[in-house]
Amino acid sequence: YSLKACNTFGVDVAARWFAEARDEAQVREALDAAAARGAELLVIGSGSNLLLTADLDAFVLRMASRGRRLLGEEGGRVLVEAEAGEPWHPFVLWTLEQGLGGLENLSLIPGTVGAAPMQNIGAYGVELKDVLHSLVALDRQSGELREFAAEECAFAYRDSRFKREAGRWLILRVRFALSRTPQLHLDYGPLRQRLQAQGIAAPSVLEVSRAVCAIRAEKLPDPQVLGNAGSFFKNPLVSEAQASALRAQWPGLVAYPAGEGQVKLAAGWLIEQAGWKGYRDGDAGVHAQQALVLVNHGRASGSELLDLARRIQADIRARFGVELEIEPLVR
Ligand code: EPU
Repeated sequence: YSLKACNTFGVDVAARWFAEARDEAQVREALDAAAARGAELLVIGSGSNLLLTADLDAFVLRMASRGRRLLGEEGGRVLVEAEAGEPWHPFVLWTLEQGLGGLENLSLIPGTVGAAPMQNIGAYGVELKDVLHSLVALDRQSGELREFAAEECAFAYRDSRFKREAGRWLILRVRFALSRTPQLHLDYGPLRQRLQAQGIAAPSVLEVSRAVCAIRAEKLPDPQVLGNAGSFFKNPLVSEAQASALRAQWPGLVAYPAGEGQVKLAAGWLIEQAGWKGYRDGDAGVHAQQALVLVNHGRASGSELLDLARRIQADIRARFGVELEIEPLVR
C-alpha cells in the first residue's frame, strides 16, 4: 500500500498493511488484525510530522474518525470535544465561528486533532497545553480507555507523555477549554505588527486567525504545493553561559529566555547563518523563506531528506557547538 498520499513530505514508500479507523470499534479491529499478523501498528493522522525513509513492514492505521461538539460550560470556560481524525484547521475555524477564543493562534497548522497533543503543537505564543482540557486515549497494552487531564499529559516544548511512551497510547478524542471572552496572545512581534499595520486596534479572534494564516502562508510552504513537515528541527535549549559566548562571536544571534538559566536559540537563524537557506541537492532542500523547514521539491526519498538533515546537524555542531534535534518522527 503506497503511503505517498499519507505523508505531507509526499515521500513514496509502502506499508505492508494499511487500514483506516472511523470509530473506536474499527481501532480495536485494527489492533487485533495487527496482533494476528504479529505486526507493529503505526498510527498516523495526516502524516504531517513524519519522515518515512523506507518501506514499512508494519500495519499503518490512519485515524479517520470525525465529530465535534460543544459539551457545555465549566468554570467560565466552554468545553469543546473533537474526534482524533478531525482535520485541525477546519476544527479551529469551527470553534472561532462559534464565537469561542483560544485556538486562533494555532490556525493553519497541518495535521489532525488527535495528533496535536502528541507533540504539543505550538505557534505564535500559544501551545496546545494552554487550551487542552483533557483527552481520552486507548491503552494499547490493556485495551482500556483512560482519561488524561491536561496536567497528566507531561506537556513540554514539542513533547508529551504520549510521544515519550511511544506505541502505548492511542488518542481517540480531545477536549478543549475555550472562552467566549477572548484573551488574545499578541506577544509574537510580527503578529502584533501585522494587526497594527492593518489599523486593527482591538482584533477579534477571527482577525487574529486571519493574520496568523497570512504570516504562515508567507513563511511556511503549503504541503499540497511543496512537500514538507513544518519545522524539521526543534529550537535548541542552551545554557545562558553558552548563549552569551555565542553572542560574543555572533552579535546577531536570535535567542529567547527560556527560564531556569536556559536560553532557546532560533534554529532557523543558525541554519541560515550557516548558508543552508534555499539550498537544494536533487529534490531535497531547505525552504527559501524559512531555513528550519526541509522541503521535497518532487521526488526526494526519505533517506535523501534525512541525509540532508544529518549534514545540517553536523555543520551546526561544527560551527556553533549546538546540537539540533529532529522534530518529526523518522521511520
Ligand atoms: N530565523 C532566521 N532565518 C530563518 C528562519 C528564522 O533568521 O530562515 C530567525 C528570525 O530571527 C526569526 C526567528 O528565527 O525571527 C524565529 O523564526 P520564526 O518566527 O519563523 O519561528 P521558528 O522559531 O523558526 C517556531 C516553531 C514554528 C512556529 C513558529 C511561530 C519550532 C520548532 N517551530 O519556528 O512551528 O510556527 O515558531 O511560533 O518551535 C512547527 O513546529 O512545525 C512550526 C512551524
